[in-house]
Amino acid sequence: MRISVTGCGYLGAVHAAAMAQLGHDVIGIDVDVHKIDRLAAGEPPFFEPGLPELLTESIASGRLRFTTDPAAAAAATAHFIAVGTPQASDGNAADLRYVDAAVDALLPAIGPGHVVVGKSTVPVGTAARLAERIQSTGARLVWNPEFLREGYAVRDTVEPDRLVYGMEAADEASVAVLDEVYAHAIGLGTPRMITDFATAELVKVAANAFLATKISFINAMAEIAEVVGADVTQLADAIGHDPRIGRRFLNAGVGFGGGCLPKDIRAFTARAEELGRGEAVAFLKEVDNINLRRRRRVVDLAMAELGGSAVGRKVAVLGVTFKPHSDDVRDSPALDVAVALKGLGAEVVATDPKGIANARARHPQLEYAEAVEEALRGADLVILVTEWPEYTAIDPVAARGLVAGATIIDGRNALDRDDWVAAGWRYRGMGRS
Ligand code: UDX
Repeated sequence: MRISVTGCGYLGAVHAAAMAQLGHDVIGIDVDVHKIDRLAAGEPPFFEPGLPELLTESIASGRLRFTTDPAAAAAATAHFIAVGTPQASDGNAADLRYVDAAVDALLPAIGPGHVVVGKSTVPVGTAARLAERIQSTGARLVWNPEFLREGYAVRDTVEPDRLVYGMEAADEASVAVLDEVYAHAIGLGTPRMITDFATAELVKVAANAFLATKISFINAMAEIAEVVGADVTQLADAIGHDPRIGRRFLNAGVGFGGGCLPKDIRAFTARAEELGRGEAVAFLKEVDNINLRRRRRVVDLAMAELGGSAVGRKVAVLGVTFKPHSDDVRDSPALDVAVALKGLGAEVVATDPKGIANARARHPQLEYAEAVEEALRGADLVILVTEWPEYTAIDPVAARGLVAGATIIDGRNALDRDDWVAAGWRYRGMGRS
């Protein structure tokens, strides 16, 4: 299948490279010249495990090319739209300007027999609106949400949990095109559902809303546990044994961040309000509030441990990305905590295996250390905010020899508390006594 992918960010670049590796002929298109130059040279402009190898192999095979020229899409039959839908600067709604621009750019390149495939996360109703604009070209639109997780994006793209094709009306030709694109996943027995546009759009936001709610639920339990001296990790283990609940996504800590969950629940709330059904998802505002309170909780704990004043105290912040195995600092709880403590007068030294360049671009006022030892040296307080394996593997005995004050706040409940306490540390977890 000849494929174009418009938008070569965390989603599109992985999709383009993975589709090429599966044997398709792929052209990746983006307006960002710098990004395209790097991708064409086989260098991902962001960190994603497995992507460098995938890019190099696919480019070498001759099946993957990159360009800034939207006209290059004309040679393809399936046209994926994988541009970002960030939170609008003036509110909670999604900013659809990149989706609209991508469709506008595709219009001259598409015609009968072509299928435009929307992967971006959009407010329900967007696909129907875009389908009207595409209609005059004779091409069809399918809404095909993605569910990939950063850090596991290659695997999630090649072997997705499910495939959803949202369509305006029964359209066997478009289904056949997508089935050919996803022949590998379908061959593995991946469930494939055909829905209408609105259902496909809602599947994506509902999945993210559910995941965000699950995390905020356990973080709400952490708030209660903190008052009564209970242990939220044991609580999560115990309720997680119930298969109806399940243990995954029940890790209490500093909460969720990233380019998806926070903005998707806000955009969903805004869209529901537009539809006159704001009350149906009003709980998502509380999900957001609980989540943001966790960041403040870490800052409050830090201030308490510093005796009420952070001025001139060195705080080592382990992690700046929103989660491990990514260099993404968008809406990162870790970075929020670092910035807040800096604002309170602390001498913050942040470290991260992959995220320093992105963090520095946003917050040049922070000090960054490449090596964790450098961050720890002389610190009055250590805060683990992103559970990189490098940090959960730190030897508490060796670390104790570096710091000035042996207190650690485990913002992800990711460390072995007993080991740290045995090494002489004062350990503060989230929702744990
Ligand atoms: C998410 C969805 O998982 C994915 O399906 C969708 O396509 C995009 O959004 P991603 O943003 O990559 O993916 O990260 P995810 O692994 O879902 O983690 C989101 C945030 O939740 C991270 O900040 C993570 O640290 C946090 N989290 C996750 C918790 O705080 N506790 C948990 O138990 C799980």
